[in-house]
Amino acid sequence: MATQRTLSIIKPDGVEKNLIGKIIARFEEEGLTPVAVRMVHLSQQEAEGFYAVHRERPFFDSLVEFMTRGPVVVMVLEGDDAIARNREVMGATNPDEADEGTLRKLYASGIEENTVHGSDSPENAAKEIKYFFSDVQVFPRG
Ligand code: CMP
Repeated sequence: MATQRTLSIIKPDGVEKNLIGKIIARFEEEGLTPVAVRMVHLSQQEAEGFYAVHRERPFFDSLVEFMTRGPVVVMVLEGDDAIARNREVMGATNPDEADEGTLRKLYASGIEENTVHGSDSPENAAKEIKYFFSDVQVFPRG
């Protein structure tokens, strides 16, 4: 299987519930190694830019408000098949539909406050990683 990198975000609800350590530990146990980590309080413009593809969705304003409500942890995770693996570990977007033991089943309170984000394709992973990190911030340094 190919080694990949994916962007992960621990969203404001995860940070508020003091889940940073638990979530990162789970990624490490699952073979998803953090190679860049940063805590950031997104501005409205940064959150809107990140979720630009959802701009026309009815939940867009609420999503931006949620994502700017407090700090988030953005990470690059590296591992075999990391994009799909991370999505398996996170579970479905809606925690009601997520498999037992997934991060969203364990920790998320709803479809919006769903604790973690993960890139959904290699193209988006590359875009999203670039949105938050320069090459020299990702190890081994680019
Ligand atoms: P994420 O994987 O970060 O991608 C887009 C986000 O929008 C998603 O997680 C949720 O936080 C949010 N989202 C998706 N669908 C809905 C919905 N129907 N209602 C509210 N928020 C949603």
